[in-house]
Amino acid sequence: MLNIAVLVSGGGTNLQALIDAQATGQIQNGAISLVISSRTDAFALERAKKAGIPTRVLLRKGFAEQADYDAALLALLKEFQIQLVVLAGFMTIISETVIRQYENQIINVHPALIPSFCGPGFYGLHVHEAALEKGVKVSGATVHFVNEVCDGGPIILQKAVEVLPDDTPETLQRRIMEQAEWKLLPRAVELFCAGKIVVENGRTRIWERTERTW
Ligand code: GAR
Repeated sequence: MLNIAVLVSGGGTNLQALIDAQATGQIQNGAISLVISSRTDAFALERAKKAGIPTRVLLRKGFAEQADYDAALLALLKEFQIQLVVLAGFMTIISETVIRQYENQIINVHPALIPSFCGPGFYGLHVHEAALEKGVKVSGATVHFVNEVCDGGPIILQKAVEVLPDDTPETLQRRIMEQAEWKLLPRAVELFCAGKIVVENGRTRIWERTERTW
């Protein structure tokens, strides 16, 4: 059983999907042991408390130096013996220091089909605004490992979602969450915890694809 930390900044619907997946047994080989928020007012904190999961708030601006922030984050991950870090709408950049310590043990959910609409500045609603501006007919979500390149780590799972003619950034965001993010993220977490993801030459290989549930 792996200890999982989920890092959040906002509403926490992806965190909720993970909590629900643990409750229903879709996630069997890991346990959410800690939720870290980059904001004191993130609703995700309420979701964690309701589920009885320990929470911590870590503000980047609370530390003068990046190195001090990194040390505090790493100390928390060590204290809770974390083996998998999940970025679920976490809006603070994870530094190379932390990435190196948790190589191929940090996963992120991104609300587009990487390599489209990703990289610096592409987060939250901005991603969907850019997709609508471009006029793409499909978008989707990607779960990937985090490396030193923003949204550039090995891709684990992706799912396409239709863009409709009258979509707003909000309606597209919601459809991508419902049809892709909330399904892909728990699935990727369970695959990781069950040891079924292998990284080779910057790409992943997933074992047991026959169990697809999306
Ligand atoms: C999600 O759509 C997630 O993919 C996105 O922020 C939202 C968080 O929602 N993450 C990024 O844009 C990261 N680049 P949530 O707090 O309800 O899970």
